[in-house]
This record gives sequence, C-alpha cells and structure tokens, in this order.
Amino acid sequence: MSCHARRVLVVAAACAVTAAAAAEEPALDAFSGLKMTGDWELVRNNCISCHSTKLITQQRGSRSHWLNLIRWMQEKQNLWQFDPDTESRITTYLADNYPPQEDRRRAAIPPDLMPPNPYAQPTTPADQ
Ligand code: HEC
Repeated sequence: MSCHARRVLVVAAACAVTAAAAAEEPALDAFSGLKMTGDWELVRNNCISCHSTKLITQQRGSRSHWLNLIRWMQEKQNLWQFDPDTESRITTYLADNYPPQEDRRRAAIPPDLMPPNPYAQPTTPADQ
C-alpha cells in the first residue's frame, strides 16, 4: 500500500468518527418531539394518547426511574400493561435518550437571600 493510499484511509476513518459524533444527536420527530432513534416509534405509539410528550421529553431518569413512572401510571392512570419485551425496549429508549442529569435543578437560594416568610412566628412573644 502506498503512503498516499494510507493517508486517504486515515482521513476516511476520521470522517467516519466525525459522522458518528454528529449522529449522536438524533433529529426530533416534528409531531411528538421525541428523538428519532432506536425504538422511538414504540414509545410514540404507547405514550402519546393521554398527555403531551413534553411530560416525557422534560423528564430525565434511569431505567428504574422510568419503570417506576410506568408502574405509577399503570396503577393510577389506566396505562395498559406491556409485555416484558416491549416494556424493556421502552425503558431502554427512555433511559438512553432522557438519562439522569445532575445539573437540572438550580442550587437552593441561600437563606439570607430569601424573601421574608409571611408565616414566620415571632421568636420572642411580646407578652412574656
Ligand atoms: C392511559 C393514559 C397514559 C398513557 C398511555 C401514558 N401516560 Fe404518562 N401520565 C398519565 C397521566 C394521567 C399523568 C399525569 C398527568 C399530569 O400530571 O397532568 C402522566 C404523567 C406522566 C409523566 C410525568 C410524571 C411526573 O413526574 O409528573 C411522565 C414522564 C409520563 N407520564 C410518561 C409516560 C410514558 C413514558 C408513557 C409511555 C410508556 C406514558 N406516560 C403513557 C397517563 C398516561
């Protein structure tokens, strides 16, 4: 193999890596807003009939977090049962694409920057 041919291969490999990196952020489905990757259609088919998909795309969590949400909806919100394979594909899609994220909540406001508490009890009652 000539030196030139080898260089072409290296460039091609680099391009493939770049393409893979670009593919990390999948396009969003115009209707549901779901990331169009993996089993997204399974999630769309099972998760859009009761509420906005914003409830889903704003949420973050591990597989067990997503499974807990599903169990809660099955118990309280009339969500139907899934066969184990479907359930596993749904929670995998959700945990892969909407995984736990550490910095989603702002830090608590320091107490000295909080507005006065209108319900605070006086610390030294006047009649003592
Ligand atoms: C049979 C109806 C129904 C279906 C289908 C359904 N949900 Fe829900 N879900 C609900 C209801 C009702 C709520 C509560 C909505 C509210 O608080 O306004 C809810 C709330 C949620 C929430 C917000 C929970 C929170 O923290 O407040 C998420 C996330 C969610 N659903 C995800 C999903 C996913 C993922 C699917 C598909 C597996 C799905 N839902 C399918 C009924 C359903």
